[in-house]
Amino acid sequence: ESTTVVVIGAGPAGLTVANLLRRSGIDCVVLERQTREYVAQRQRAGIVETRAVRMFDSWGLADRVLGGVPHDGILELRVDGETHLVNDYDGSEGPTARLCPQQMLVQKLTAAYLEDGGDLRFEAADVSLHDLTDDRPTVRYRTADGGLRAITCSFVAGCDGDHGISRTAVPDGALTPYAFDHGIGWLTVMADAPPPAHPLLAVSPQGFAAHFPRGPYASRYYLQCPPDDRPDAWSDARVWDALRTRLGDPALVSGPITDREIFRLRSLVHDPMQYGRLFLVGDAAHIVSPMGGKGMNLALYDADLLARAVRDAVHDGDDTALRSYSQRCLRRVWSDQEFSQWMTRMLHDAGDATNSGPFHRSLARARLDRLFTSPGAAGAFSELMTGMDFGEDA
Ligand code: APR
Repeated sequence: ESTTVVVIGAGPAGLTVANLLRRSGIDCVVLERQTREYVAQRQRAGIVETRAVRMFDSWGLADRVLGGVPHDGILELRVDGETHLVNDYDGSEGPTARLCPQQMLVQKLTAAYLEDGGDLRFEAADVSLHDLTDDRPTVRYRTADGGLRAITCSFVAGCDGDHGISRTAVPDGALTPYAFDHGIGWLTVMADAPPPAHPLLAVSPQGFAAHFPRGPYASRYYLQCPPDDRPDAWSDARVWDALRTRLGDPALVSGPITDREIFRLRSLVHDPMQYGRLFLVGDAAHIVSPMGGKGMNLALYDADLLARAVRDAVHDGDDTALRSYSQRCLRRVWSDQEFSQWMTRMLHDAGDATNSGPFHRSLARARLDRLFTSPGAAGAFSELMTGMDFGEDA
């Protein structure tokens, strides 16, 4: 069997690559390890930034794959119970950010790709990559009923996340990893409870907390905790108590908790994002800590660049964009890492100063004060939120 591109992984990255290739008239096959049901219900990110909305719009896909609620761009930063509104309005024309939970985007991208006649194979086991530095690499896998398959192709898009196989197919030493552990844990809680008016991030002496909308009667909450804490240490009562205290809202309405997990805030970048004919896309290449909501948006950016680069190579025999793929992606990756790191430090250090100490607490307070009072600082923040920054084609 043979095709032009094999896409490994059907998360936001893989499904976006596949849809855009399909729209460009380029053959591809998507291989996903899990079932369709499993992939469709996995909850994670929630905001599609302005730049990414316009990207889908330029491909004629925005209405089909985003749906969701237009996001008014307002974010609430609550410091010791006091409200400050910031926004992502940058004055540019065109559609703006959407509140679109990742699993909704994944479901809609899956449906759009299949409606367009796309080839998507779930429960593909033991995927392995071969001859990546040859002109025609091969991808092998096993079907659900045990059959062995091999597909030769011109390009492999490694979109299988941080624990996928794509990156492990690259010989040791070919990619340099840059890893950072922020020393912070977050308890994440999903509940059937009313969403906030605006995505809400709160600083308090007891630590950071946040409340995000996930639907008409669904919310996702975050509570800062020690990185090695355990979810079973957080009873329902303790969760709601901590949220009410840290959000400064004694009247916060609770609801049944449907999920609770703890993860460490970490960042990771692999450079370059390419090896031979394998191109890494999204989490397979980089992890950004969740503050700032850039993880899924970076995956969408990589996917767009890769699809356009493959289109140039296949239709016009021009591989310029493929050769600059990694460098262009990494420029944005590091910009978003910096934004996320800045925001992580500001919103954690300003509250509970146990880890950072009083000096960093005062620095973080000064950053917040500047953000709330300086139009220049607020403008820089909006620009980073939209993702519409830095003279892309300069
Ligand atoms: N073979 C095939 N598929 C695999 C394999 C494998 N060996 N390993 C993983 N996968 C699949 C996973 O099941 C998943 O569906 O690859 C997909 C990777 O999806 P994500 O982890 O969601 O990564 P990505 O598409 O890059 O999306 C990045 O999603 O995870 C969030 O915070 C992240 O918001 C960011 C965005």
